Amino acid sequence: MATNRIAHYQYGSLYVDGVDLMALSDEIGTPCYVYSQDRAVDNLRSLQKAFPDAEIHYSLKANANLALVRTLVDSGAGLDAVSAGEIYKGLQAGVDPNMIVFAGVGKTEAELKYALDVGVGWINVESGLELARLARLAGQLHKKPRVALRINPDVKADTHQYIATGHAAAKFGISLAEAGELLEKYADSDEVTVEGIHIHIGSQLGTVERTVEAVQTVLPLFDQHSSLRALNIGGGFPVSYTGDDVPEPAAFAAALEPIFANRRLHLMIEPGRYVVADAGLLIVEVQYIKPSPAGVIVVTDGGMTELIRPALYGATHDVMTLHDPASAEYTNSQVVGPVCESADVLRNDVTLPTLQPGDRLAVMDTGAYGAVMGSNYNARPRPPEVLVEGDTWRIVRRRETWEDLIALERNIT
Ligand code: LLP
Repeated sequence: MATNRIAHYQYGSLYVDGVDLMALSDEIGTPCYVYSQDRAVDNLRSLQKAFPDAEIHYSLKANANLALVRTLVDSGAGLDAVSAGEIYKGLQAGVDPNMIVFAGVGKTEAELKYALDVGVGWINVESGLELARLARLAGQLHKKPRVALRINPDVKADTHQYIATGHAAAKFGISLAEAGELLEKYADSDEVTVEGIHIHIGSQLGTVERTVEAVQTVLPLFDQHSSLRALNIGGGFPVSYTGDDVPEPAAFAAALEPIFANRRLHLMIEPGRYVVADAGLLIVEVQYIKPSPAGVIVVTDGGMTELIRPALYGATHDVMTLHDPASAEYTNSQVVGPVCESADVLRNDVTLPTLQPGDRLAVMDTGAYGAVMGSNYNARPRPPEVLVEGDTWRIVRRRETWEDLIALERNIT
């Protein structure tokens, strides 16, 4: 399926929904992140349609902007949090604590206590030691949390090695054998109710087959332990960054349907990327053009501090000019940032309209794992985040200032 971009040209300029990005960036400067509320909600709706019986927990790690998260919560999403900080942000966004799943491989005692205090809906446990710790804390606090065991199904996801999580050597999850033992051990526990199984084999999954395999691997646990009633199959639904074919959520649902047909399982999913990736873009401004053996190097005011995916995973994001390139000449370009690292690239080897300093570019599909993975490296203030709603927009996180950069430093002399 060709990508269905949030941005389109109108009156010579690039628009997101009804908002002119040239005028927007004139007003607030660059770099800046722009999110389409409508697109994020539409994406959530597509998942709700593909999995009508599933409980959907949006994975905050993809984009935890409060205004954006609030619209998703208002549209029926629960939340998947992987730190106490994410639980806190989720609550600030207005989610019912019972609709939070608390996951993560290294939850500290303080984080578990916080989760118990606020009463999250589920805690996904990743080791026997974590379950013992949780049971002890729950006993002390007189709580009885609902627990899912995250299983490592030893399935190698079809994705980049850094975001594959389901193979035996990965740090994530509990082996099938150990899960069986834990289910026996905690069957009559007064401290925890173990009634779910969780799997997440990776992100940006290239095929549905590995997911089916992972689900089939854990199904025997449901046959052997009648206390189990919920299966959380994680996230991982891919997006098409460069127009390549990727399986739609409906393809995952269709492949799983026959497996679930005769079972009364409460199904849960935790999508992040699919909900927000194509709802966002990053606007940068060209500062300098330098010749290179392959064409030109385009130095912009945004880089790996705003979008680390190309540097970290070799990810490819499309780039569009903010001015309509109709009748432009084209040049082979490498779009880079100002950070002092050769990995600081936004896009390698791309044919772009011939650019001038002052031209602006939109780096596409940066709504997921963009701002959340940003940093202040090189003392670069984080850019603002803007939420577009139809033909209006508002800043939902302001640009950081130089004062922000030093605000937490202490005892300087
Ligand atoms: N559930 C669990 C347990 C996860 O570990 C993740 C992502 C998700 C759900 C959401 O996955 P999604 O639907 O977004 O694929 N920074 C990387 C992606 C890291 C994903 C980590 N876990 C990237 O930019 O590609």
